[in-house]
Amino acid sequence: MKRKGYLDFFGKLAVIFIILASLTSMGQSNIKNPIYLNPDQPIEKRVKDLLTRMTLEEKIGQMCQFSVFTEKYGKLVKGGKVGSFLNVLGAENTNKIQRIALEQSRLKIPLIFGFDVIHGYRTIFPIPLAEAATWNPQLVEKAASISALEATSAGIDWTFAPMVDIARDPRWGRIAEGFGEDPYLASVFSAAKVRGFQGKELSNPFTLVACLKHFVAYGAAEGGRDYNTSEVSERTLRNVYLPPFKAGVEAGAGTLMSAFNEISGIPASGNRHTLTEILRDEWKFDGFVVSDWGSIAELIPHGFAEDSAHAAKEAVIAGVDMDMEGRIYISNLLQLVKDGKIPEEVIDKAVSRILRIKFRAGLFEHPYTKIDQSKSIMLCKEHLQTAREEVRESLVLLKNEGNLLPLRKDIKSLAVIGPLADNQADLLGTWAGRGVAEDVVPIIKGIRNKVSGATKVYYAKGCNIDDTSTNGFDEALNIARKAAMVLLVVGESADMSGEAHSRAFLDLPGVQKDLIQAIYTTGTPTIVLILTGRPLSISWVKKNIKAILLCWHPGVQGGNGIADVLFGDYNPSGRLPVSFPRTIGQIPIYYNHKNTGRPPKENIRWTSKYIDIPWTPLFPFGYGESYTSFEYSNLQIKPKETGSNKEIRVSVDVKNTGDRRGEEVVQLYIHDLFGSVTRPVKELKGFKKISLKPGEKKTVNFIITPEKLAFYDRNMNFVVEPGTFDVMVGKSSENIQLTGSFEIIGDQ
Ligand code: GLC
Repeated sequence: MKRKGYLDFFGKLAVIFIILASLTSMGQSNIKNPIYLNPDQPIEKRVKDLLTRMTLEEKIGQMCQFSVFTEKYGKLVKGGKVGSFLNVLGAENTNKIQRIALEQSRLKIPLIFGFDVIHGYRTIFPIPLAEAATWNPQLVEKAASISALEATSAGIDWTFAPMVDIARDPRWGRIAEGFGEDPYLASVFSAAKVRGFQGKELSNPFTLVACLKHFVAYGAAEGGRDYNTSEVSERTLRNVYLPPFKAGVEAGAGTLMSAFNEISGIPASGNRHTLTEILRDEWKFDGFVVSDWGSIAELIPHGFAEDSAHAAKEAVIAGVDMDMEGRIYISNLLQLVKDGKIPEEVIDKAVSRILRIKFRAGLFEHPYTKIDQSKSIMLCKEHLQTAREEVRESLVLLKNEGNLLPLRKDIKSLAVIGPLADNQADLLGTWAGRGVAEDVVPIIKGIRNKVSGATKVYYAKGCNIDDTSTNGFDEALNIARKAAMVLLVVGESADMSGEAHSRAFLDLPGVQKDLIQAIYTTGTPTIVLILTGRPLSISWVKKNIKAILLCWHPGVQGGNGIADVLFGDYNPSGRLPVSFPRTIGQIPIYYNHKNTGRPPKENIRWTSKYIDIPWTPLFPFGYGESYTSFEYSNLQIKPKETGSNKEIRVSVDVKNTGDRRGEEVVQLYIHDLFGSVTRPVKELKGFKKISLKPGEKKTVNFIITPEKLAFYDRNMNFVVEPGTFDVMVGKSSENIQLTGSFEIIGDQ
């Protein structure tokens, strides 16, 4: 017995020893190789493990973002007091700062580097409003993936894009940065940009974390004046301004950015209803929200926060996780938690979201950027070719009377005139990343690249973009008189749109309209090219000039892409993503408006219209001409009646009835004839861009899902209501070719 007793004792001792040894070794490996540093562990486990190891100061550090890096930040990074930098550019610089975080800080949490890669990093594509005019989400997605490749090779991990603010007011300079006035079109491009930036795997080192901005209703700024109040009903918020954000979240966007504006009394950066109740509770978004630059601090001038501590509390409770350059979180959160004014679990939630995205982005596995890979990537041939394709497809042929376009390449002589004809910097447009003016192909060069050696190309600037001098008119008139054709290149400079660049007038700036009118008197056939970041009120030009090509701000391949269209190497297919007003007096003007109780009738006075101008836009949403023509036939709608949870299938035949290949953007609109709340007279619910050879006919198919028929009803429920729906298929929101209807007959 005794022997057995000994054996038992030593046996137990050995078991205890083995357990202790394994715990210690686990413990050691736990310190040497903690869960959060183990890529084989699930991300949620890594987030939890890291959070438990962090001090309150380190947690708050993750919530702080600073612009550019100066030596004084070195100490903060070492102390784990910074989560992100923006505007630090170049892999050498980001690696240098990252090394401080990874080699000198206690927990070695990588920084995330952000930058505004809005429509390109070094290869600058057309501005986003022009990208929307392509109605080609696949192409725009490809351009975004190229931007991600270039930006990540320069050390950037995170872009503050896509901007998906719906804009119905072209006075607002930031209309240039978004996808126009329609929730459906903007939603399609929101998702396309997120896919392009983030790729299939966000952990891929050549993908960027996307950032949907500015959340929300920033584009509803009263008077089109940037940063101004947005007074938006909950129903309009949900039916118009929120859908592109929801589409981006559903596409997997890692982050959102709050906004500067207030939303009917509550600033967007302190708005718990939008940032938590909608974004997180309803949409289940699990990424993080960064403030806009200083927008937390701005809760004080908004009159929404008494002081910076109050601003910090309002923003973090509302759901803003990271403070961009506001220095509000770094100065106030620690004391607020210590004083019990903010529960630490609020901080834990915010930090968890930030860490989650850093893990998903693979930053713990590849925190550094390989040097020198960028040299071969920036502006490479493939990137420039894609940029040229986007330019071509973004151009909108607004008028082509007498088929003045396309031009012959052996035309005898051309007078190229205007302040934007031999211009590089302004073609980059607003938010041009690391674009360089010298990279831009100016329009005059694109033309010279295209015409025959025998063609005489004369050039005169004529005037500046925005001053009163007409001294250059004579030279311009001289060459206009001797040339066979005038190409007049006018419009806005790059810095007339974008942030803090709203305009109270939408005319061509300076004396450009006078220049056009002077050239017009020569009688030489004239084509006007419009470069702009926004719709312009160009009624006189539309009335008197035979051909007008809208070129937006086209980016580095502007000259080549525009010449491709001018000389017929590409048949223009761009369509307007935003209405062009006749005058600012019509603003806001958008196609998906309500019918009112007195819909406008030309010859009936007591209806909703103006006594001095037609109430319709100068050019409508979805509009654009082609060098060929298309015929629509055989509209089919099946079934003609169905339940509210069923799909409707629509098909239409489209034929190219012209003599050259062309692309048509077949547009599908619906009109919910009546509802528990008033509904727009039409809503875009589908589009297909198809290419047809001369004489070729294709059948285009659409599916109208219940989601496309649903809206927020009288009780603010998202529902499909029974009733009759008109279906309209056509070339633009105004040029409807075929109509039909179907019936929703209750829940089935
Ligand atoms: C700006 C803009 C925002 C941009 C940010 C960082 O103020 O509103 O769109 O991403 O600052 O540059």
